[in-house]
This record gives sequence, structure tokens and C-alpha cells, in this order.
Amino acid sequence: MLELIAQYQVEIAQFQSVKADEIEQFRIKYLGTKGLLKTLFEDFKNVPNDQKKEVGQKLNELKNEATEKVKTLQEALESQKSEQGLFGDLTRPGYPIEIGSRHPISIVKNKIVEIFNRIGYVVSEGPEIEDDWHNFTALNLPEYHPARDMQDTFFIEKSTDVAKDMLLRTHTSSVQVRYMDTHRPPIRTISPGRVYRNEDISARSHCLFHQVEGLYIDQNVSFADLKQTLIYFTTEMFGKSKIRMRPSYFPFTEPSAEVDIYWGLETETDYRITKGTGWLEIMGCGMVDPNVLKNANIDPEIFSGFAFGMGIERIAMLLYQIPDIRMFYENDVNFLKQFKSVI
Ligand code: DAH
Repeated sequence: MLELIAQYQVEIAQFQSVKADEIEQFRIKYLGTKGLLKTLFEDFKNVPNDQKKEVGQKLNELKNEATEKVKTLQEALESQKSEQGLFGDLTRPGYPIEIGSRHPISIVKNKIVEIFNRIGYVVSEGPEIEDDWHNFTALNLPEYHPARDMQDTFFIEKSTDVAKDMLLRTHTSSVQVRYMDTHRPPIRTISPGRVYRNEDISARSHCLFHQVEGLYIDQNVSFADLKQTLIYFTTEMFGKSKIRMRPSYFPFTEPSAEVDIYWGLETETDYRITKGTGWLEIMGCGMVDPNVLKNANIDPEIFSGFAFGMGIERIAMLLYQIPDIRMFYENDVNFLKQFKSVI
């Protein structure tokens, strides 16, 4: 029996496997209820008494060794499994990485900024919570001016003294004023940002939206410069250079105009979005009113300039045929995903 024990000991020591079924077979072979060790223990009663001590010890050794072996092999198997759980099959083909997409408002904003950067405009920004001076009064919209009604305002603080009023800016024209506080002509700046108006929310209008404001001030700036700048812009932005300027009114510019671009009437959509006219309004503009320059301590006898302002949502809706302005703010991934290919 001692020989047999020694033989099993060698076999057990030599056995190696990382496969669950092989390890299980090994366990059954030696330690199972009908296993080899079971047989040895049964035969133990036939061992002569004087050898019982030695054989007994060996037999126990053998049992411990077999149990230990099965335990180590099972542990090795488990740790291999958990490694696989962590890294998976390292030879498998990779998953395509889902890349995010820019928000259409950011895409359009960046494009506008980039077009004006190319002709020397620098970006400027201002606070969304504004005081009365920067949003209204300095822009030639003094207290009781009826044009204040053009922009329904969210007030944060409203007092009898307008100078103390605080509000959510109704347009990015306020950044013009801030920029002129800290810069002297020549000025070429473009100010993108979020604005707020107390308007009913519908497919066409929202209580928050985005604008880009432009301001150019230097000596001898003329309306022709404004027109040429806008033709450059519409060509770069829409690939369309035919524009018209309709007389309009803004308190901060004189003369003022609204700019339409000729969109064309080639498709059914063109008919729909231009209401059958082929023309689309895209922005307001004009020559900076001398009062606005005076409020910023810039001498209107020496300097003149132009300004313009446009809504980013409106342009994005045109470019991407988006039918409802509310889609910009709903964060619907299926909507946003569609702008992946546009940088
Ligand atoms: N601030 C105007 C608005 O929100 C847009 C605008 C019109 C800006 C004419 C200008 C401008 O600078 O000259 O409706």
C-alpha cells in the first residue's frame, strides 16, 4: 500500500490544469465518494497492525496533498476568470467608440465667430445678469423710452430709480457698451451670448435664446462698409451674397436696417421658409447712434461705426431645417446625435 500511496503522491504533485472540467475529474478521481483514496481507506483495515501507524500517517498526508492541490487549482481558475471579466477576450475586435457631438447652437456660433475672426474681429463677452445702464440707458434707451417695450424684460430687481434695476440681459448689445467702457477705437468685436426675454414659448420663440452682436468703430466708417461686411458674412456663412437692407428702427443705431438674404425659391422648403418671397430676414444693423458713442466717451465728431445683431437659433434653424426652436433646449440625444458629422 505504501508504494501505491507514493505513486499517487507523485501523480498528484505532477497534475496541472486550468480547465474547470479537468480539475473536477481530478477531484472525483482521488477524493470522490468512489475515489482512489476512498478505496485506500477501505483497504486500511487489512494493513497489518504493526504497519498501521506508518501507513495511516502516509494516507493522511496523501489526502491533505490531494485536497490542497484541488484547492490551489480551483483558486487559480477563479482568478483567471475574474481577470477575463475585467478585460474580456483581449483578441476580440474593439467596440467603436461613440464620440459626442457639438450642440447645433455651438456649431453655428463657432462658425459665425470664425468668419468674423478672419477679418480682425475679436470675441468679447459680458454678464447675463445686467444693470439697466448697459442693457438700456447707454444704448439710447432712457427710462420711459417706448422702444423698451420691444424687449419684454425679466427684472431681477426693479426699483423706482431705474439706475438700480438689475435684469437678465435682453440682447447682447449690452456687451457693446461694456467693450467701449474698456477699449478705445479702432474697435472690432463680436459678442456671442445667451439672452432672455419674457416671451411665450412656442415653436418660433423662447424665453431664452442666443445672439451674436458685432461692433466696428473707427474713423470714416460708412454704411457702405457695413453692407460690404455683411455681404462677406452671408457669402461665407450661407454661400449666398444677394442681400437687401430694409429701413428699420433700433434706438442704438441711426440709420437702422433689417437685413434679408435672398435664399432662393428652388425647393418646396424654400417656398415654405421664405413664405413664397425667396427672402429671409437674418439680422438687424445700423450706424452706431452718436448718443451711444457719447455715452461711452467716444467723440462722434471723430469716430463713427456700425453694429449688427443676429439670433443664432434662427440661423441654425435655417441651416439645419429645424422646425421648432424648443428642440435646442430639450437635450434629446436623438436630436443632438444628428450633428456628429459637423465640427
Ligand atoms: N439688439 C437687437 C435685438 O436684440 C439686434 C440689433 C439690431 C443689434 C441692430 C444691433 C443693431 O447691434 O445695430 O433685437
